[in-house]
Amino acid sequence: MTTKEKVFKYLEEHNRNFTSGQDMADDLYVTRAGIWKAVNTLRKEGYNIEAVTNKGYRLVLEKDVLSQKGIDELLHKEKIDIKTVVFDEATSTNDIAKEYAGNSSDDVVIIANHQTKGRGRRGRNFYSPKGCGLYISFLLHPKMSIEKATQVTCMAAVAVCKAIEKLTGKDVKIKWVNDIFLDGKKICGILTEGATSLEDGSLSYMVVGIGINLYLPKDGFPDDIKNTAGVLFPEGELEENMKNRLSAGVIRELTNLLGSGDVNDYLEDYRSRSMLIGNYVKILNGGTVSGGYGKVEGIDDECHLIVRRDNGEVEALSSGEVSVVKY
Ligand code: BTN
Repeated sequence: MTTKEKVFKYLEEHNRNFTSGQDMADDLYVTRAGIWKAVNTLRKEGYNIEAVTNKGYRLVLEKDVLSQKGIDELLHKEKIDIKTVVFDEATSTNDIAKEYAGNSSDDVVIIANHQTKGRGRRGRNFYSPKGCGLYISFLLHPKMSIEKATQVTCMAAVAVCKAIEKLTGKDVKIKWVNDIFLDGKKICGILTEGATSLEDGSLSYMVVGIGINLYLPKDGFPDDIKNTAGVLFPEGELEENMKNRLSAGVIRELTNLLGSGDVNDYLEDYRSRSMLIGNYVKILNGGTVSGGYGKVEGIDDECHLIVRRDNGEVEALSSGEVSVVKY
């Protein structure tokens, strides 16, 4: 057993009370510095270990703790072989994934419990409070054209829906391009970034960043999103190990979709969860002609939104945002 494992076991067994660093060091035959190092490593893995002067340490056992060990065990059981790195706090998991891209050509998944500089699409912030959500970024090196690779964002939306449905049975919907809704509120956003090779314009890597709101923030959502943002579990933390199970689930579903022989395999699953098909929408930006209104007729094989405008012209929107018009 490593020092870290011994310290964890000890804290788990004594979790009702504080235990001094010296007692732990004596009982485990480890130096005080060794205890301090192990506590720090456990904290980085997501464990909440309180430290109070003159009292010592206490492991705060929460039902739902994000941990590297928890996720890796689940992935291992399902024979999924991808490197994961878990942070209790990160700036932006997308930024960390990009730093990895500079140093390695391996795929990796960066997961955090909290982001201090979470980024959304169109330069917006992504509210990422501690313990209330799951922030996951995949660094991928797909062997596909840039056009196809843009569809990995839509694939990720399907992967998140499937993981949520399998774990919770909840009925989630996709709002094109890549927002996920539950009961009319956005519970997940996806930001995809990439880099191309200067030599031949091919895709060097892509980062698919997924932010899922799990629990209601203590002080509610900020004013600018309080009417539109929702959470997957408004009922609170009822299920154990949900963050790890959901992380592993999203990794499994996206890995399966990426590994499928046909890059278009996900499209039927995307269309069947679309909350826009058949609706009249306002086109906020994007498209060849920005603005205006139209009826959504479908989603084509490139994951473009097919809109019939009021003048009868049919347009395939490749990016942008639309909002449903309610009568
Ligand atoms: C959006 O809805 O505008 C997209 C939000 C994407 C948020 C995720 S959270 C994980 C990853 N890290 C970031 O900084 N952003 C993405």
